[in-house]
Amino acid sequence: MNSDMIIVLDFGGQYNQLIARRVRECNVYCEVHPYTMSLDEIKKLAPKGIILTGGPNSVFAKDAALCSKELFEMGIPVLGICYGAQTMAHVLGGEVATAPVSEYGKTTVEVDTKCKLFKDVHGTSICWMSHTDYIAHMPAAFKNTGRTENCPVAAMANEENGLYAVQFHPEVLHTEEGTKMLQNFVYEICKCEATWKMDSFVDTAIEELRAKIGDGKVLCALSGGVDSSVAAVLLSKAVGEQLTCVFVDHGLLRKDEGDEVEAVFGPTGPYKLNFIRVNAQERFYEKLKGVTEPEAKRKIIGEEFIRVFEEEAKKIGKVDFLGQGTIYPDVIESGLGKSATIKSHHNVGGLPDHVDFKEIVEPLRMLFKDEVRAAGIQLGIPENLVYRQPFPGPGLGIRIIGEVTAEKVRMVQDADAIFREEVARAGWGKKINQYYAALTNMRSVGVMGDGRTYDYAVALRAVTTTDFMTAEAAPLPFELLSKVTDRIVNEVKGVNRVLYDCTSKPPATIELE
Ligand code: XMP
Repeated sequence: MNSDMIIVLDFGGQYNQLIARRVRECNVYCEVHPYTMSLDEIKKLAPKGIILTGGPNSVFAKDAALCSKELFEMGIPVLGICYGAQTMAHVLGGEVATAPVSEYGKTTVEVDTKCKLFKDVHGTSICWMSHTDYIAHMPAAFKNTGRTENCPVAAMANEENGLYAVQFHPEVLHTEEGTKMLQNFVYEICKCEATWKMDSFVDTAIEELRAKIGDGKVLCALSGGVDSSVAAVLLSKAVGEQLTCVFVDHGLLRKDEGDEVEAVFGPTGPYKLNFIRVNAQERFYEKLKGVTEPEAKRKIIGEEFIRVFEEEAKKIGKVDFLGQGTIYPDVIESGLGKSATIKSHHNVGGLPDHVDFKEIVEPLRMLFKDEVRAAGIQLGIPENLVYRQPFPGPGLGIRIIGEVTAEKVRMVQDADAIFREEVARAGWGKKINQYYAALTNMRSVGVMGDGRTYDYAVALRAVTTTDFMTAEAAPLPFELLSKVTDRIVNEVKGVNRVLYDCTSKPPATIELE
């Protein structure tokens, strides 16, 4: 890809991906690399600018993550953010200390608008702060270009050498003029051209895939989710019928979803590819019989999926490439230390052990989710598929608490279809990020007509979130909840009670298992 590039050197801050996304929103290509990347490797990438991220530690802690002084002498502009700003100060001979008053949250900042980083920015605005250390003394040749009440060096610059530092977080939208500051860095300071756009990405990716695959055969697991769908369409545009997609219907999909996927990718759909649908419902239900422990269910579903996929692959025989819908956050996350496993996530992209292929192709490897969606639209994939809400790999298997049976799947599918239909009708679909019905394992007494019932309770879950790491329960109007409840208890046999989950994440998670 021949775009100008900015690299983000990651010191372990929580906003590392966000910085890269913001840069890409300026239509400038940006990659995240660990702070340990060598100067030679950096030179090879020839970035037009470097951004140092925040990080959880102190620059004066034992074994602190630091970069070398030479990084600042390469003639490439550098922007240090938060811990990155302190690193710049420390490495270049300034002094970092624990601030007498730490700042957290929205803070008024005053900046020097003559500094290129603050061109067209108001002299006083709100920024987002989160720090306990601060720059107590600037290195020689730096000018103080910003301050808050408790942080005298909230920004500093050595403009002659293209070095800029801000204690606050321009990438967080609470910083009112943060986007402008990042634009100033990439356009004014690094002189990048705004060439990173999804239409050119799609054209280039298709050409690159053609060159790489030649007349080879590609096999791809298709789940109907956004990532695997966009990857499959990109591959099919590149190599057409050399691509075979295997879609495993594990019987844990939403109502009618299997048929919807087939309608788009199957023989009557708009794409020319070999589509194989495997109806493996019974197999999965059999394996899940009597299993109630959430992690055990997840593992069984993940493993069975791979087995089914391998069996199909064996029928096809040797292929040259295995296509996967890996996206950039997966790449970044797998390159860093993993935090505690709360749930073992199963994605349809998991690697099979016994498929005969030479190489993996991952056409979306460098894209963030919003870019994948933009590429999907560019490729003409229907909007309802491109803007689909996330759906976990183990599907309804983790939305049925306790043992999974075909009968329970039917109940949860029907309840969920009603909930989704009413949410859409009430115009709430675009306001919430994920919503579904789950089947609790609780049965309770009710009365229907003149008779006693002893049936299941459905839990409705709807959340708003930006990153799915934290989430709030959505304040759905009571009339909507009440309408959904009436419909579910009347239309779904076996359900006599509907509950709304008001818990945020944390302490709950988005899925129930
Ligand atoms: P939790 O339940 O961990 O979910 O708060 C966060 C987000 O991840 C989705 N999720 C999964 N996605 N495979 C996936 O591809 C999985 O195994 C899986 N488990 C949870 C969940 O739907 C939510 O969007």
